[in-house]
Amino acid sequence: MGRRTTVRTFAERKRAGERITMVTAYDAQQGRLVDAAGIDAVLVGDSVANVCHGHDTTLPVTLDEMVMHTRWVRRGVERALVVGDLPFMSYQTGPVDALRAAGRMLKEAGADAVKLEGGRSVAQAVEACCRAGIPVMGHVGLTPQSVKAFGGFRVQGRSRERAAEVLEDALALERAGAFCVVLECVPHELARRITERLTIPTIGIGAGPHTDGQVLVLHDLLGLLPGPSPRFVKRYDELGARAQRALEAFRDEVRAGRFPTNEHSYAMDPDALVGIEPVADEA
Ligand code: KIV
Repeated sequence: MGRRTTVRTFAERKRAGERITMVTAYDAQQGRLVDAAGIDAVLVGDSVANVCHGHDTTLPVTLDEMVMHTRWVRRGVERALVVGDLPFMSYQTGPVDALRAAGRMLKEAGADAVKLEGGRSVAQAVEACCRAGIPVMGHVGLTPQSVKAFGGFRVQGRSRERAAEVLEDALALERAGAFCVVLECVPHELARRITERLTIPTIGIGAGPHTDGQVLVLHDLLGLLPGPSPRFVKRYDELGARAQRALEAFRDEVRAGRFPTNEHSYAMDPDALVGIEPVADEA
């Protein structure tokens, strides 16, 4: 397997015009899959709240839970950069809280970097983390932790005013020392301009083809979630439907007595059975 991805790799990729890939994972096995596929970064996203915990938003997931999931993922990843998401209210309260939360991600969970949402409003928190040697990935545009303020999950930056704000937020993150910025659900024209203006890489999700990299949620990419996917998701497989069929086949075979056969069973020396007589004829 190739050399380990670091934050320097991200900078080198932008300079070389080579695109960056990132996919979420929430446990060791998922981390292993993403890592083995040669994806550059594994994001332990707070989307775990929706994908694994069954919530409608990312707001309920706690810092302890994020540390736990990140620790699990870390055990499965050898080469990719492991980025741990800071959950809602673990950093919005100021630089000291941000430092504590980010510190736990590196110290207790083994993350290589943290991600947090927001621009100018969190610039001081980003600066404090970077000064302490904690690499920070920013996240602007549709920031799901602000879903209540946005009034729903909607594309951001469509008006002139809002587009200027998203750009300002991205620039503030760069000035604060972030090594990279996720652009979520912004029009592709805006994503292109932000990508051209920033010297650090942009990673898009629902932001069109002109960013320096792309990120998707693992379960979206694999088609593991029920119901229609958002427009920006490409489902590279339909593992949810395939898993459903496999489970139904197991149910039917057990009910019909077709599983298990001797092929899936352990045999013993017939001498050891002497004295334990069968009640009925054995097939
Ligand atoms: O939590 C997450 O999965 C994310 C990605 C959508 C970027 O933040």
